[in-house]
Amino acid sequence: MSDSVQTILILDYGSQYTQLIARRIRECSIFSRIIRFDTSAAELRAMAPIGIILSGGPASVYTPGAPQVDPEIFDLGIPILGICYGLQLTIHTLGGRVAPGQEREFGDAKLTFDEPEPFFQGLGDGQSVWMSHGDKVHELPPGFHTIAHTSNSEFAAVANTERRIYGLQFHPEVAHTPNGTQMLRNFCYDVCGCTGDWTMASFIETKVEEIREQVGDHQVILGLSGGVDSSVAAALIHKAIGDQLICIFVNNGLLRLNEADRVRQLFGDNFKFRLDYVDATDRFLDKLKGVDDPEAKRKVIGNEFVYVFNDEAVKFRSAKFLGQGTTYPDVIESVPIGGNPAAMIKSHHNVGGLPDDMDMELVEPLRRLFKDEVREVGRQLGLPKEVVWRQPFPGPGLGVRILGEVTREAVEVLQRADAIVVDEMKKADLYYSTWQAFAVLLPIRSVGVMGDERTYENAVAIRIVESQDGMTADWAKIPYEILGRMSTRIINEVRGVNRVCYDISSKPPATIEWE
Ligand code: XMP
Repeated sequence: MSDSVQTILILDYGSQYTQLIARRIRECSIFSRIIRFDTSAAELRAMAPIGIILSGGPASVYTPGAPQVDPEIFDLGIPILGICYGLQLTIHTLGGRVAPGQEREFGDAKLTFDEPEPFFQGLGDGQSVWMSHGDKVHELPPGFHTIAHTSNSEFAAVANTERRIYGLQFHPEVAHTPNGTQMLRNFCYDVCGCTGDWTMASFIETKVEEIREQVGDHQVILGLSGGVDSSVAAALIHKAIGDQLICIFVNNGLLRLNEADRVRQLFGDNFKFRLDYVDATDRFLDKLKGVDDPEAKRKVIGNEFVYVFNDEAVKFRSAKFLGQGTTYPDVIESVPIGGNPAAMIKSHHNVGGLPDDMDMELVEPLRRLFKDEVREVGRQLGLPKEVVWRQPFPGPGLGVRILGEVTREAVEVLQRADAIVVDEMKKADLYYSTWQAFAVLLPIRSVGVMGDERTYENAVAIRIVESQDGMTADWAKIPYEILGRMSTRIINEVRGVNRVCYDISSKPPATIEWE
């Protein structure tokens, strides 16, 4: 479908901010895609983008083996914007000179515009921008001139206006450049000629047609977890093909309190999806007996899910298609350069996929969407706030929040403690402004006193974090009264817990989950 919408292509040179560039552009109602930096000019031409961006990256253009650009892309007549490494590479490739600067420039800088430029339209005489570079442009290639400078960078923004090639030494995509999105918007609209044809309403319309065309009168089965991605995928596919969609919802016994009922009620009763509910609690808990290592637990839960799902899917043997809520960050294809930390941290979470030998064609309508776009699609399809803005919940569920062996009793205790944390967060109107808020059951007992009696029971940790993407996180500074209420309620209402702690560690070095 992206073929019919105007597209900005982003060549990825390994910056941790490449995805941010793509997101910012999408926020301007323009479709953008990240592609490998070694894509040739001929391939690029075939993709017919309306503009091209070269991202930042950790390399130095003059070191042997540094990632390059096919020089012919500068002759395609398509507007180009180089950001940081992308700028240096543009200058280096077109005959200018890049070399190490006197010192690294890192942090805020005051950018002063040198002349009126469509690029800086509506932004006054200058802007605060965020720099992060060691190398510097020392000499421009023929045809280029400076359009903005800082006290430390004579060539903070440069252009060859005739060929519509631009370069920025700073990062317009990060939040520390307050009006950076406006600069990207100006590049797209005023330099490339974008009209802003990427909206979620038009996405839904086109996708519905595409799904109908792909599926015909066959059936699609989809594993519904109740999480944002699978729920939105299900809603979109359902809009396209109605009862040809069969959602399989597996209760692994490690869900939050009443979660299974909520999902069944919402999708089964309210939305009238064909919902195949499997209560596999016993199967999962049986397999988890005696398993206390976190990774072993993940493996057991992931594998068992595949077995249960397969056992169920055979009931719908005639289904030819498998629906999935795969989203864009799951599929971005990039070449690793100098160890992009963002790429490494995530890998261990991809557990519990479906086996390759399931001979079904995939229907993945959200494959091109970022999370915020998925939420908007969900909202437009009428999904409630509790689903669209649901906090992330790990695939292995409470299994990785019960430290050590997972037992039925432990699950029940944790479900009740966790429900209190969530309830108090919602009452305080803090639930949707934090990244995750949950309880963890610790495998230790401590002494307490209740009435006249000595108790010797479990401890619960409350974990509440703020985060943008789960890669880094800070513990949330929740008011004491709210933490106090959670603690009192957990100790009073949950049998088996006599102590509550608040986790004040950030990620890194801790992780969000305890296992
Ligand atoms: P950590 O604990 O690594 O978690 O800081 C980062 C984010 O990932 C979620 N998470 C998981 N999600 N399967 C999942 O689907 C997993 O095994 C898993 N482990 C962690 C976690 O909840 C947080 O949002």
